[in-house]
Amino acid sequence: MLYPLIRPFVFRLDAEPAHRLSLAALKLMPAGAPPKMDPILATQVAGLTFPNPVGLAAGYDKDGEVPAQMLALGFGFAEVGTLTPLPQPGNPRPRLFRLVEDRAVINRMGFNNGGQEAAMPRLAAVQGRGIIGINIGANKDAVDRIADYATGVARMAPLASYLTVNISSPNTPGLRALQDEAALTELLAAVRAALPEGGPPVFLKVAPDLEPADIEAIARLSLGQVDALIVSNTTISRPALASRFGGEAGGLSGAPLKGLAQQRMRDFAKATAGKIPLIGAGGIASAEDAYARIRAGASLIQIYSALVYEGPGLAQRINTGLAQLLRRDGFAHVADAVGVDLR
Ligand SMILES: Cc1cc2nc3c(=O)[nH]c(=O)nc-3n(C[C@H](O)[C@H](O)[C@H](O)COP(=O)(O)O)c2cc1C
Repeated sequence: MLYPLIRPFVFRLDAEPAHRLSLAALKLMPAGAPPKMDPILATQVAGLTFPNPVGLAAGYDKDGEVPAQMLALGFGFAEVGTLTPLPQPGNPRPRLFRLVEDRAVINRMGFNNGGQEAAMPRLAAVQGRGIIGINIGANKDAVDRIADYATGVARMAPLASYLTVNISSPNTPGLRALQDEAALTELLAAVRAALPEGGPPVFLKVAPDLEPADIEAIARLSLGQVDALIVSNTTISRPALASRFGGEAGGLSGAPLKGLAQQRMRDFAKATAGKIPLIGAGGIASAEDAYARIRAGASLIQIYSALVYEGPGLAQRINTGLAQLLRRDGFAHVADAVGVDLR
């Protein structure tokens, strides 16, 4: 409720210091129990029970510093990372831009993070607090990228409610080539082999910049290998943008990504035909956006960029609005609305 008052001061800072300030403020917040949820929002995906379908997308809490605080803000799940096996500094600054006129963000952070080992004790300390996913990636300088994913899976599995294999960041050169059929086959085999017996579900996060043949191949290869697909990461495409930062290199997220991400959700829903659960991300900023993504096939949704513009109360506002929309349309559970617009 206070965020509209604070926002002008936050926006006077450059985007990256503002982000760090928000993390510091959250760390000071006592991470109490999550708020009570409307039971209409509870849902089961990949064997996990989510109190609500609104998650925090990867990249906000790369080092797993505040997942319990995010759950206390009303997120049904929080995804930390991307964490790479070794710490790495990421790209030179500036590398994060607020496109205020477009309600968007461009980032070319490049997987800046303190590394998996440093995050482990923090993540161990929040076990049992709720659903905390761990998003893993490869180091920029890795000689064998696939081996980095295997390392991440083996190391982080004991601490994760679920693991996300992120092969869709545009800011590590060549990373998205792992979405190609031959590379993806090898990667998924290595991930399965590295997963300990009884390990957590494995999600795969894809880019929105895919051709129909890529989508078909990813859906086919994921069957039996992946427990859910996250659709999608940021886009390297550039729709018309009003902000002076529109020409910056990197991944675009927020409002201008919404239409593309919604279309990719439909594409993947058709390609997977209900056999793999889908998680929608990209430009979701309201209960209406979340509801539309669910009706297009998403069992869960995630948000990041809209938090910059709407503030920390957004998850709870989306949850309240989503419950109303579901009741208005006669649904008893959020799962009953998944994909209804496709039928
Ligand atoms: C600053 C920033 C950093 C991000 N870092 C990551 C990351 O490390 N790993 C990842 O899988 N996605 C990352 N993302 C992508 C988001 O998780 C999300 O998929 C994307 O931003 C679309 O959602 P949005 O429009 O709600 O932001 C990042 C996004 C932003 C804006």
